[in-house]
Amino acid sequence: MQIHIYETPELAAKAAAALIAAAILDKPNMVLGLPTGSSPVNTYKELAKMNREGVVDFSRVTTYNLDEYVGLEGTHEQSYRYFMNANLFDHVNIDKANTHVPCGVGDDPEKNARDYEAAIEKAGGIDLQFMGIGRNGHIGFNEPADAFPDATSIIDLTDSTIEANKRFFASKDEVPRRAISMGVGTIMRARRTLLIATGADKAEAVRGMVKGPVTPRLPASALRFHQDCVIVLDKAAASLL
Ligand code: GLP
Repeated sequence: MQIHIYETPELAAKAAAALIAAAILDKPNMVLGLPTGSSPVNTYKELAKMNREGVVDFSRVTTYNLDEYVGLEGTHEQSYRYFMNANLFDHVNIDKANTHVPCGVGDDPEKNARDYEAAIEKAGGIDLQFMGIGRNGHIGFNEPADAFPDATSIIDLTDSTIEANKRFFASKDEVPRRAISMGVGTIMRARRTLLIATGADKAEAVRGMVKGPVTPRLPASALRFHQDCVIVLDKAAASLL
């Protein structure tokens, strides 16, 4: 685990964007794993700028997102498909046909999860998985549990995550209770991983990930066993290290 600490969240975002851009330059047809949430927003802005300026080309990139709420259509403003279009895909020269977000609707969410995992495998696996971290140490939507989920599956969200995410919805009751998420195994199978965390409210989760025991009670701690993991932090998120 390589840890980089920056003075501000903006600098951390620039560093993450530089790492992603470098990976695309290295392999223009790469498979890129992507997150939602507030953590990656500035990184996506930087990538869009680099794309506009002609520094980085998304035309041959394929993406797989970490997760999606169960029950939300991609047109719902709080769906992660909507978020990805609004924050990245509409602003870069990616072919939307090559962008993938797990499908949260339909009669058989479990089948959607199995199909998603199979699609990632068929694409040759993920070259670089970018992600944020939840306040309780979750990655994707892999909540604290007794074991690390291996493959993409349906997850019951914890109350703390529902509480944290209610800010995006009209009320807490509207936050979906379940999500479809890549497993910790899916993330660990990515050839490279990159996690960004900014702000003091992530400091405790970051401390647990970096210094605590490797445990499914803090899913991000699994990254300590990843062969190529870069953690990008601002000073506030790193304050308990
Ligand atoms: C959400 C997402 C995660 C994200 C995390 C932190 O619930 N499923 O992928 O990393 O919570 O979100 P934020 O970046 O908004 O703090």
